[in-house]
Amino acid sequence: MKKEVAKLKIAIDGPAGAGKSTIARLVAQELGLRYLDTGAMYRAVTLQALNKGTPLQDEAELVRLITSMDLEIVFHQETGANLVFINGKEVTEEIRKPEVSDHVSLVSSHAKVREFIVALQKEIGKQGQIVMDGRDIGTVVMPDAKWKFFLQASVEERARRRQRELDQNGHKIDLLDLEEQIRRRDYLDSTREISPLRKAEGAIELDTTSLGISEVVEKVLDLIKEGEQGVQASSCRS
Ligand code: CDP
Repeated sequence: MKKEVAKLKIAIDGPAGAGKSTIARLVAQELGLRYLDTGAMYRAVTLQALNKGTPLQDEAELVRLITSMDLEIVFHQETGANLVFINGKEVTEEIRKPEVSDHVSLVSSHAKVREFIVALQKEIGKQGQIVMDGRDIGTVVMPDAKWKFFLQASVEERARRRQRELDQNGHKIDLLDLEEQIRRRDYLDSTREISPLRKAEGAIELDTTSLGISEVVEKVLDLIKEGEQGVQASSCRS
């Protein structure tokens, strides 16, 4: 399997809490591909802006901040995780804190912020052998990806998942507050003018509300394996 998928680009999009990053990381590991969590880049910019007191409405100030910071995403081969560094300091955990989640959709809605971050993502994606997850991967960052998935789940289930995740990291947040935050982010992400969250043409939609992580990973891998075998069989015939 690893050999046939060597040049693959896999795009996984969907709203907050649909399971994108866990699924994308595991699919990448299973296929021996790299993994990029594009949301982590917007989160890192948001964290830096909050730490520096940059006004989050001010696009020009945010661009100045981005161009003055050293943002590094390191792909950890063994775990498949992305380690995030700002000016050499690791912030992998810090970018998940609720304060960042609350403000990241505003930061990511600025056209010039996206222009800068998307250019970095396109550069990382260009040689393929990668799984990326985000909101605009199938539509903007890797529109040429052969495989595009759009993960969905109910707001209630996504809030429950997010609560479990935050709980494990020592953050106690009320479930209704999380539902509210997710609804707000869904709204901002899907109504913004620049590359809103939407299913890419040809993307395979999977509702993960009642599916466990391993079931979704298996479904995605089965679809890719079937598709790749189909391609191989038809190229053998020609
Ligand atoms: O993990 P979760 O779904 O909560 O969020 P994330 O993937 O870390 O992304 C955080 C935020 O960054 C999203 O709510 C979007 O506002 C923004 N984002 C984006 O605009 N485009 C992407 N490709 C990825 C994230």
